[in-house]
Amino acid sequence: MVCLGNICRSPLAEGILTQQAAQAGLHWLVDSAGTGGWHIGNPPHLLSQKVAGQHGIDISAQKCRRFVAEDMQRFDRVYFMDEDNYKDARIIAGPLWKNDKAKLLLNELYPGQNLPVPDPYYGNDTDYEHVFNLISKACEALISRYQSTLKK
Ligand code: 4NP
Repeated sequence: MVCLGNICRSPLAEGILTQQAAQAGLHWLVDSAGTGGWHIGNPPHLLSQKVAGQHGIDISAQKCRRFVAEDMQRFDRVYFMDEDNYKDARIIAGPLWKNDKAKLLLNELYPGQNLPVPDPYYGNDTDYEHVFNLISKACEALISRYQSTLKK
């Protein structure tokens, strides 16, 4: 799960997908990173921690890290919160970029629309709640699509 700062959106996405995958009985390694390096080593934004906690997910132990080219090798799928994150990661990954692994997260929910998960960095509780719900629905769609491909 990749966003810009790895303190607002992608930590939520990591926490949400980790919980949903476990509940679905899937043994997935889920991680997150940011394309920017301003907050490396920091925990998630307090409002991300707060909204996650309100939904029963503890993300307080996460530490911000930067997306690295090798992430394209370590993971089967890399989900981006918006098109800028996608483009920046493609530059960071260079020759290790894998088009078939790279997806915009909201295309799981709204296929082909290339919609962004809005950046809540300067927002309030309501903005973080909106982001939580968007990511949560997208992760549900991602898991059910994965499960339906297994049945085919
Ligand atoms: P995120 O939000 O990409 O969802 O983690 C941001 C966090 C920090 C900054 C920008 C976006 N920043 O400019 O420091």
